[in-house]
Amino acid sequence: MNVLLIGNGGREHAIAWKLSKSKDLKKLYIAPGNPGTAKCGENVDIKADEYAKLLAFAKDKKVGLVVIGPEDPLSDGLTDKFEEAGIKVFGPSGKAAQLEADKAFAKQIMKTNSIPTAESRTYDNFADAKSYIASRDEPVVVKAVGLAKGKGVFVCDDPAEGIIAAEKIMEGKIFGKAGEKIIVEDKLLGQEASILAFVDSRNIYVLESAQDHKAIGDGDTGANTGGMGAYCPAPIVSDKLMDQIVREILVPTVDGMNRNGTPYRGILYAGVMLTQGGPRVLEFNCRFGDPETQPILSRLKSDLLEAMLATCDGKLDRITLQWDSRPAVCVVMASGGYPDDYEKDKEITGIEDAEADKDVTVFHAGTTIKDGKLVTAGGRVLGVTGLGDTIADAKAKAYQAVEKIKFEKAYFRTDIADKAIKGKK
Ligand code: AMP
Ligand code: GLY
Repeated sequence: MNVLLIGNGGREHAIAWKLSKSKDLKKLYIAPGNPGTAKCGENVDIKADEYAKLLAFAKDKKVGLVVIGPEDPLSDGLTDKFEEAGIKVFGPSGKAAQLEADKAFAKQIMKTNSIPTAESRTYDNFADAKSYIASRDEPVVVKAVGLAKGKGVFVCDDPAEGIIAAEKIMEGKIFGKAGEKIIVEDKLLGQEASILAFVDSRNIYVLESAQDHKAIGDGDTGANTGGMGAYCPAPIVSDKLMDQIVREILVPTVDGMNRNGTPYRGILYAGVMLTQGGPRVLEFNCRFGDPETQPILSRLKSDLLEAMLATCDGKLDRITLQWDSRPAVCVVMASGGYPDDYEKDKEITGIEDAEADKDVTVFHAGTTIKDGKLVTAGGRVLGVTGLGDTIADAKAKAYQAVEKIKFEKAYFRTDIADKAIKGKK
């Protein structure tokens, strides 16, 4: 089967790397891809938002499955466009993708179906939001309801900070249309976990748990980023806790989406806060996580294409996924300055040396080829992923590989996976 994968990040390199090993894969196209995906298939010079071109390409190349990596094309309904043309898609419909793209919709689904999440209110004008926030004396979390590249959330220690955040979003319009409405919710305390599952609108197949590191600095300090590293599994998510998450969160969400007339198919990603009162949903994503996908798929032994097709065909009850028992740790190497301004075009060396260790895979994110050389082209540049007998071993593998890779002003956190190793709260 010919497969078209859409996207160009570290997540897409991990998906392409895994799909390239699938037994029924004939040809893998990646649009637009990156220098890493070019080693797994053929990169196609069409951007992820050039929908008409993507559709024409898929028809021309007799593509049997389209895999949509990022959230924007999903929420724009790209799945529906391909399906109308008779092409299978791994990813939810535009309406179902609103579970990520419209946090007010997600909250409504959670409220209607008694899914545990922070208490919240939605506002479409600043004056009302301000008077509500001012009336509270606890910390608040202020969120733009739309897609804001993971930057639309402000965790505020006091109401004054919350009012400033609401003002920036609603009056300053820093996220444009995505901030026309906001959600104000209670701040939750605990460790976070990323729970991803294949969902075929009836069946749910949970993947191994993972944990992201969103802050730029060691010890979870500094600005929020797209994710500076991840590990899989997350030992804090015991089997019992996973059962509870499935029972209290995933099952009612999938049922609720059916009852709402927006059946869910694809990857359902629940960002969960493990509070003392039990797991609570922070957000839903309608796609694989980045960088969680890098360690998760590094451990998946089963055929990814088969699992994706089972998801599309409503046959998830017929598959069983096998996992490498060894944990995986992914350390993101970023351009110095990220998530603010950073320089590009820095030559990258040492990847081959790093990958000489068979337990290491280096996933590309912000890289490109210029004048025949591999150079940096984005904030998050590489996801250096190691497997080991223990999480500590996997961490050591990943960091030994990081030490071999060089580019000017490279930045990375030095404590990825320490929470799991030290069992820190
Ligand atoms: P989200 O994009 O909604 O997952 O939010 C991004 C990050 O903000 C999460 O990973 C949490 O670290 C934090 N966050 C979001 N909602 C809350 C909340 N209600 N309480 C505490 N932290 C939160
Ligand atoms: N790692 C967080 C996300 O993919 O949204």
